[in-house]
Amino acid sequence: MPLLWALRDLLGLTGTKYGCGIAQCGACTVHLNGEAIRSCVTKVSRAVGGQVTTIEGLSPNNDHPLQRAWIELNVPQCGYCQSGQLMAAAVLLRENPHPTDQDIDDALSGNLCRCGTYSRIRQAIHKAARLQQEGGGL
Ligand code: FES
Ligand code: FES
Repeated sequence: MPLLWALRDLLGLTGTKYGCGIAQCGACTVHLNGEAIRSCVTKVSRAVGGQVTTIEGLSPNNDHPLQRAWIELNVPQCGYCQSGQLMAAAVLLRENPHPTDQDIDDALSGNLCRCGTYSRIRQAIHKAARLQQEGGGL
């Protein structure tokens, strides 16, 4: 069973989305032991004993700097890809607190958005980096 099935169908954590099912779109991105993975192609057995974080667990009150920036800048359009974008962005900001546009493009190149929200995603990641620097925490 893919981890995505367990998250959505068994645990009811439906914030993580099914897009392609073949590791091509990033809609199903979650963290396994802090790393961004494609849950549609990750066997649930790989997560045994590990720590899985989904969009529901990114912050206690939806107040992660990325979530605050996403809301302020109205990043989502249809929203389908956005939890995957956020989970990928969270790893980027943890590893690189001041990413350039190129860093953002490189880190999120595997997360597709049919609505084309890429420029707002970039702006929001820069804003989240500022919020984090001002003490917003991650
Ligand atoms: S649904 Fe997993 S990468 Fe597309
Ligand atoms: S907001 Fe619609 S696919 Fe990204």
